[in-house]
Amino acid sequence: MPCAETASGEIFYTLSRGPAGGPVLVLVHGAGGTRLHWPGELRRLPGATVYTLDLPGHGRSGGRGCDTIEGYVEAVVAFLQRLRVERAVIVGHSMGGAIAQTLALSSSGQVGVAGLVLIATGARLRVAPAILDGIRSDFEQAAELITRFAWSPEAPSSLVERGRKTLLEADPDVVWGDFATCDRFDVIDRLGEIRSPTLVVSGSVDPLTPVKYARFLVERIPQARYVIVEGAGHMVMLEQPGKVMQVVQEFLVGIY
Ligand code: COA
Repeated sequence: MPCAETASGEIFYTLSRGPAGGPVLVLVHGAGGTRLHWPGELRRLPGATVYTLDLPGHGRSGGRGCDTIEGYVEAVVAFLQRLRVERAVIVGHSMGGAIAQTLALSSSGQVGVAGLVLIATGARLRVAPAILDGIRSDFEQAAELITRFAWSPEAPSSLVERGRKTLLEADPDVVWGDFATCDRFDVIDRLGEIRSPTLVVSGSVDPLTPVKYARFLVERIPQARYVIVEGAGHMVMLEQPGKVMQVVQEFLVGIY
């Protein structure tokens, strides 16, 4: 399922316009997600222009899910070129973080990467067989398992319920394809090539992409710093939107 040809025309997105010359952000969601994995605090970040997209095959976008991270990168780059976005901070969550890292590593230079914000992600994203096989054998049960892993015990039940519902509304083939794509992702040996200023954000109680992954990113990416959000799980930006908004704003002040 390569998806470059489905690319830009079918991407659904929302746009929050900030001042001319101000920061431009592109928010890229994770496996089986949609643009609503991002809280309003980031989708409408004060002082910034923010594009929040549904990847191909997700949410309200057309096309099909991709079977490689590079396929998603092509779709995002084509989307940004169509909108004439020449330079942006790429903000990725989980699989979206894999897309952001790969975009920064691509030599195409078609879109300038002003910075990277890598949220609850890693340089390798192996996936537990219980999730991968489970999506194929019993999607509802797998969605239950993913939901259990994705949220901290403190997360409000309304948020968790909404997350479960969004996941169950997704196409199981797309969700499986995303996790299989994550399972193959590995840029561990290439992190030193990332030249963009990078902010790494990690929830302290995230079992899907543990703090160890964030530390590794910060050790290997030359211009990286990291913030651990205490008590947050994998959906850190929905669980603690105010905190994540604050650290992103501080990061932007340093690079714009
Ligand atoms: N950054 C730093 N270290 C990493 C890493 C990353 N992104 N990914 C893996 N590693 C480390 C592991 O901690 C492990 O270190 P260790 O040998 O000191 O324990 C080593 O690299 C090998 O790990 P991994 O590649 O994951 O293989 P594995 O066979 O040990 O484990 C799984 C495979 C699937 C059991 C494991 O990755 C896991 O439990 N994943 C569950 C979480 C999940 O499904 N997340 C979904 C992400 S989308």
